[in-house]
Amino acid sequence: MLVDPFEANAAAYLRQQAEIYGMELPLDGKLVKNPLTTSNDSSAKDLESFHNEIKDCQLCPLGATRTKFVFGVGNPNADLMLIGEAPGKNEDLKGEPFVGRAGQLLDKILAAINLSREEVYIANVLKCRPPNNRDPLKSESDTCQPYLKQQIKLIKPKLILALGRVSGAWLLGEDLALKDMRNKSHSYNGIEMMVTYHPAALLRNPNWKRPCWEDMQKVRDRLAHSQQQGVA
Ligand code: URA
Repeated sequence: MLVDPFEANAAAYLRQQAEIYGMELPLDGKLVKNPLTTSNDSSAKDLESFHNEIKDCQLCPLGATRTKFVFGVGNPNADLMLIGEAPGKNEDLKGEPFVGRAGQLLDKILAAINLSREEVYIANVLKCRPPNNRDPLKSESDTCQPYLKQQIKLIKPKLILALGRVSGAWLLGEDLALKDMRNKSHSYNGIEMMVTYHPAALLRNPNWKRPCWEDMQKVRDRLAHSQQQGVA
């Protein structure tokens, strides 16, 4: 069999880099995922089998009223993980988080810091839609909690961004107001965590777009910082 010398060299280079840096590859001062380690990497497989394990969940009454179970979407090795509250109508129909108007705004917010939804991982505290989009009940989020915890464990993001008060308060385990969680760096099981506005809140009150943009600049800076630390 003829071997393409360019491909052979590229593969050797990626293998060597994987030995030195693990799953990441230094490129232009940033760490990107090494394709050699991500093409059949275990966290994608683990995440997929975890999804298959839980997708028919009936542990709380939302299992009976949902259309689709909304597991999460994006890069299984993402450095940034975004966590919203619960699926809405569009998400319930499609089985994917943040696909309605709030989701379109979220895509623009990510684009403003040069990220796409394919590069990050997006999930919710609840995997099933609460009827009429009411706030999640404590019993529902308590029941669903191990699912998100396991996703975070498999994805191992460098930074978690909670979208909105419900998600921030749930992750921190404290009933705090958004203003008391924003503009601070928190920790979730040793992973850096920040909190910003929920995109749906920005649709209701565009005056919050400016402070949200300020939060996102901090997110961009903290991500760059943790990526640089990974290279050093
Ligand atoms: N709002 C959320 O919190 N999550 C979604 O997936 C959609 C809207």
